[in-house]
Amino acid sequence: MDFAIKVGTPEKQRGACVVVGIFESRKLTDSAKILDKVTQGYIKNILALGDMDGKASTSLLLHNVPDTLFKRVLLIGLGKESEFKEKTFLSAVNTTLNTLQKTAVTDATLFLSDFPIKEQASHWKVSQIVIATSNSNYRFDQLKSKPENSPRSLRKLVLCIDNRTELAACEESVQQSLAIAHGMNLAKDLGNLAPNICTPTYLAKQAKDLAKSHKLKTSVLEEKDMEKLGMGSLLAVTRGSEQPAKLIVLEYQGSGKKENPIVLVGKGVTFDTGGISLKPAAEMDEMKFDMSGAGSVLGTLLAVAEMKLPINVVGIIPATENMPGGRATKPGDVVTSMSGQTIEILNTDAEGRLILCDALTYAERYNPKVVIDIATLTGACVIALGNFTTGLISNDDKLAQALLAAGEQAIDRAWQLPLWDEYQDLLKSNFADIANIGGRAAGTITAACFLSRFTKKYRWAHLDIAGTAWKSGKEKGSTGRPVPLLTQFLITQAKTGN
Ligand code: BES
Ligand code: MN
Ligand code: ZN
Repeated sequence: MDFAIKVGTPEKQRGACVVVGIFESRKLTDSAKILDKVTQGYIKNILALGDMDGKASTSLLLHNVPDTLFKRVLLIGLGKESEFKEKTFLSAVNTTLNTLQKTAVTDATLFLSDFPIKEQASHWKVSQIVIATSNSNYRFDQLKSKPENSPRSLRKLVLCIDNRTELAACEESVQQSLAIAHGMNLAKDLGNLAPNICTPTYLAKQAKDLAKSHKLKTSVLEEKDMEKLGMGSLLAVTRGSEQPAKLIVLEYQGSGKKENPIVLVGKGVTFDTGGISLKPAAEMDEMKFDMSGAGSVLGTLLAVAEMKLPINVVGIIPATENMPGGRATKPGDVVTSMSGQTIEILNTDAEGRLILCDALTYAERYNPKVVIDIATLTGACVIALGNFTTGLISNDDKLAQALLAAGEQAIDRAWQLPLWDEYQDLLKSNFADIANIGGRAAGTITAACFLSRFTKKYRWAHLDIAGTAWKSGKEKGSTGRPVPLLTQFLITQAKTGN
């Protein structure tokens, strides 16, 4: 997919299709007015027929419009002008893409000034359009014997601005957003792959391939290495599995060796049956997505490497299956984590925190500037925030604010939950230093409280992506989130260092 930024208005250009916006009650945007004028009132006449009145999520495709060099004109309804915001902008972009995808249009031209959002600059619109286009073009058919759908015909979007001073920022935005889109596609592919293919060994191989193609350093710790390091908690989760666990480390160096890295830790449970605390059968297949944190770390590193950001980033991925079996960990087992703290495993389905805690202790050796873990950690987070919003919990308010702002900017939003001391008591164990579950109440917070016992030595934030990493139902599939949030956070870090 190609994107070009141009300075210009519709009368002087040519192409397969021009897209112009119409507000509710048939109010023309500036580019619609220009087009209407050069076509001698053609647009207004069509609107007067009543086939389209500019309501949000509507569209009308016109052919053979006289006096224009475009083969087609696509009218897009924008809804009420006074109510035009980020959400209506995104739905107008998606309506445009959905309509274009049903045609043979290869290239389309649209005008950013048609989408007047006061709060957002042109480069923000560019970024959202590039990512939405990539999402709309994404297909996962590598596991079908023959592709079900014909290939997409849309190849190029020309995005027009009316002010030359915005050109550089918009062009940079295309490059950055393409990198984010590529990172999302990698995260999606890994999430969508079947769990008999995407195993811990497969993830390690993907990390090595990524390291090779993008000049990263990689190392993979095997179970015997984990034993030497005393990672009894991570090893407890893999005990029931025939697949060997891996601890994957990727290092991106875009800045001086002395500069402390930002460490991303991604939960890589390639299938979560619950272990001996077995999950119910319904929708258990979706637990192949339980490695989405790992996928987002790989995707973000790909984006960062493509953008050549001047920062250092380390990705750490504890990868394992969670299976029942004769050797599997049992409820009541007590294990010793790498930190030395003992853990009573009361529920083997709370396995994410058990693998993350050892990875978080391992992160200490990188003297991290900050550590962010990303995990499909709790069903409770889906109950609290639904499928729109990632849960955020942090021991550092400045870091939390920076992540919230990055999510806001990327429209990949998170919402903060508290990490107050009161919740810590819920993890008391009669037999070990800490229990791995805290009861039904505040499940997302107690999971983060557990992790916080292992992150005392650095600034840390936790992203619970249980509700946002994939979609269920008819459109079942990985979303590639929170690659946009993480990458935006790193872009800002690279610019401002905080
Ligand atoms: N991977 C799951 C969390 C999950 C469940 C994500 C459903 C998305 C949808 C995690 O390992 C898990 O099983 N968590 C348990 C924790 C509980 C036993 C304290 C949960 O949320 O039920
Ligand atoms: Mn689980
Ligand atoms: Zn899990």
